[in-house]
Formats: sequence, C-alpha cells, structure tokens
Amino acid sequence: MTQNPQPDPAKLAASRAAVALVRDGMKLGLGTGSTASIMVELLAGRVRAEGLSLRCAATSKATAELAAGLGLRVETLDEIGWLDMTIDGADEVDPDLHLIKGGGGAHLREKVVAAASDRMVVIADPGKIVDRLGAFPLPVEVLQFGFETTRTLVRRALEGLDLGDREVMQRLKGSDAWITDEGNFILDLHLQAIPDPVLLARALSAIPGVVEHGLFLGMCDLAIIGKPDGDVVTL
Ligand code: 5RP
Repeated sequence: MTQNPQPDPAKLAASRAAVALVRDGMKLGLGTGSTASIMVELLAGRVRAEGLSLRCAATSKATAELAAGLGLRVETLDEIGWLDMTIDGADEVDPDLHLIKGGGGAHLREKVVAAASDRMVVIADPGKIVDRLGAFPLPVEVLQFGFETTRTLVRRALEGLDLGDREVMQRLKGSDAWITDEGNFILDLHLQAIPDPVLLARALSAIPGVVEHGLFLGMCDLAIIGKPDGDVVTL
C-alpha cells in the first residue's frame, strides 16, 4: 500500500513534523498531493504503532482511498462536523502565509475542509516559498455549463485588473478535459505575478460559473517547510 517508497526528503521532513502535532482523539482534514500523501502514510504509521483514535475527512477521492487503504478512519466532512486541524500541501506560500493551491485539482474540497478546521497546517518543500504569489498558474474551478462564457468573464476580469494579456488555459488530462471530483472543469491562469491577491480573489469569486479559485488567503495558520537535510523551518 506504500505509495512513496523513496519520498522526497524535504517533503518527508515537513510531513513528519506535521504528524508530530497530531494528538489522540483529533478530528483531522487530510490534504491532497504528493506531500499530503507522504503525511497520510506517516499518520497511518503512527495510528498503527500507538493505537491513536482519529477521525479523518479527506480533501479528494484519491486521498480518501489512500487513507482508508492504510487503515485510517475516513468519514465525510458532514459526519465529522468541525475539525481540529487540516494538514495539506501547497503550490506557493508567500510571507503572509497566503497560498496558491489546486495543482492537483482539489482546491475546492481543500478550501471547504480547511475552512471547517480550527487550524490549517501547510507542509511543503522549499521550492514552494515565494516572495510574491503568481509564478505558479492559478487554478480556478469552473462549471462545465457555459464554460466558454465563464472563461471570457475571467479574461475580462483580468483585463480590469491590468492582468489582461495573460493566458487562461483549460487544464487537460492527456487530450481530455480535466474533471474535478465535483465534476467541474479547471482553468489555469498564467499570470506570472499577482500584485494584489485579495483584489483578484474578490474579482474571481464574483464571476458566475466560477466555483472556487486556488487563492487561500488568511487560511493557513502554520507552514512547515522541510529541508533536504531533514530539518524543518516554520513560518
Ligand atoms: C492539490 C494541492 C496540493 O496540495 C498542491 O498541488 C501541492 O502538491 P504537492 O505536494 O504534490 O507538491 O493543492 O490540489
């Protein structure tokens, strides 16, 4: 069942430090992506070794399958209600702990789960630390209905913010459209830089057809950055 026979040492270090924060009886949100998968494996190891009693809500079908396969108790978010802590990866982390997420296409569920948590802990390798968000293409989950209309509205919003000549690409899986766990499409906004994340988040959220964007502003409480030598720094 091990998904990561030779995990990236920095991701492993961050995951280990986050799993050390888990206490018996906690209700946890489990993130999505390669770093979160390492964390889930370490968490399952702790549960086996120490007999911890945990209740977990997953941020994607993939994570739910992984966690349940490793013996973790996975329930729906509504079954659990409020969570003590969510541990998740990120694509970019800025000095204010603002994030870009959704590289794995799971940012909609990830945001709902993080919003239902007392604490969001991000685990990442040093490559995710940025001075300013935006080099990573910003994922935006969009309804299939009226998709091209929504894409046009997104382009116009970017123009209105002087981000107009940027590419707005539909995410593909091979030659097919990427379909999220909720059955939606994804647009990736190639912006290079996001001078004002709050303004952009507000503009995107106001567009009909946009289900959720990958800007996580004011949601992350702690970022644990693993280093290749196994040490970690926290932000
Ligand atoms: C998935 C995410 C991931 O947390 C993000 O893409 C980081 O992934 P990885 O740990 O594989 O670099 O937001 O939607």
